[in-house]
Amino acid sequence: MLGLAITRRTLIFGSLFLTSNLVFAGTNSLKLPDGPGKATMEKICSGCHAPEIVLGRHETEDGWTQIVSDMVNKGANGTDDEFNTIIDYLAKNFPAKANSQPKSNDAGGKSQ
Ligand code: HEC
Repeated sequence: MLGLAITRRTLIFGSLFLTSNLVFAGTNSLKLPDGPGKATMEKICSGCHAPEIVLGRHETEDGWTQIVSDMVNKGANGTDDEFNTIIDYLAKNFPAKANSQPKSNDAGGKSQ
């Protein structure tokens, strides 16, 4: 009797946990954030793979520049303006994680 009750409760908690994880995955990680440059990116970067390929990556502006020019080498087509727009969009929405946090302090140009 007692054993059964415990199992039941564990099951309920277990499925609640699973459900909220799924909701998070659906709203957070599978969509490109809105913003200037999103449409350009979808236009140019969806030719060979889903533009969502960038989700989960975090790079500095240099890092994104590198990736985008790599895609140009692979055959991505667009104007310089369009690629710059895409790099801005990526650098703003997917910044490097670890090292970019203290960067906001750099804005004043102070160096140590
Ligand atoms: C001409 C085809 C093409 C276009 C257009 C293209 N890509 Fe790619 N992309 C590829 C190929 C092929 C790969 C897989 C390359 C590999 O595995 O090395 C790839 C892989 C990637 C990756 C994963 C790279 C990695 O190292 O994991 C990212 C991020 C990426 N592309 C971003 C972009 C962005 C941003 C754009 C728009 C500026 C874009 N791609 C447009 C062909 C393209």
